[in-house]
Amino acid sequence: MDTTTSQNSICSHHHSFALDNFFRRVVQSPKKILGPYLNKGDTVVDLGCGPGFFSLAMAELVGSSGSVFAVDLQRQMLDRVQAKLKKVKDTSALATITLQQCSADDIGLDKSIRADFVLAYYMVHETPDQGRIFQQVSTLLKPTGSFLMVEPPFHVNKEEFARTLGCAERAGLAIVDRPRRKGGRSALFTLRP
Ligand SMILES: C[S@@+](CC[C@H](N)C(=O)[O-])C[C@H]1O[C@@H](n2cnc3c(N)ncnc32)[C@H](O)[C@@H]1O
Repeated sequence: MDTTTSQNSICSHHHSFALDNFFRRVVQSPKKILGPYLNKGDTVVDLGCGPGFFSLAMAELVGSSGSVFAVDLQRQMLDRVQAKLKKVKDTSALATITLQQCSADDIGLDKSIRADFVLAYYMVHETPDQGRIFQQVSTLLKPTGSFLMVEPPFHVNKEEFARTLGCAERAGLAIVDRPRRKGGRSALFTLRP
């Protein structure tokens, strides 16, 4: 086990309002954050999607020719994503969103899926074995794919984040950017050549 932090309590679905509300949209606009990384037709994964704050924006950005896999441990979080989707009047411009319930150490997606982009927003510090998650992200990515990880500074201090970055590098991921984020410590990775 390559565990780099002791913080691995799970954000309960009871707190999902805190993850999707007007104020967060103002401070962390999903389209502004993800726009630079996504293209029409892409296959993308929202790992630890929670109530889908990013998943729906991903579906819009990759469009109807793309695919979104929204993955979470908690069935109730996926139910919230589903409920949001039902409220969208016209889904014709959206990618299909596949909801996947996973276990703490297995993303659980079909092994044939290869992603152009994987997002793990405020999720990695909740996992009991970060190395295992990063290994799976490495396998999931296309050779040209990228992985954006953002961690909450109020749960993950600089030293812990540095250890997490080391863990990702040991799993075959290479840091290509450290985008500045409000409310986040972040890194963009590609596969190490
Ligand atoms: C703090 S929430 C963030 C949700 C979403 N990414 C966002 O930014 O709104 C963390 C989410 O990660 C999920 N999670 C925690 N550990 C996980 C794991 N090992 N695999 C998949 N999801 C996980 C939790 O159930 C929770 O929904």
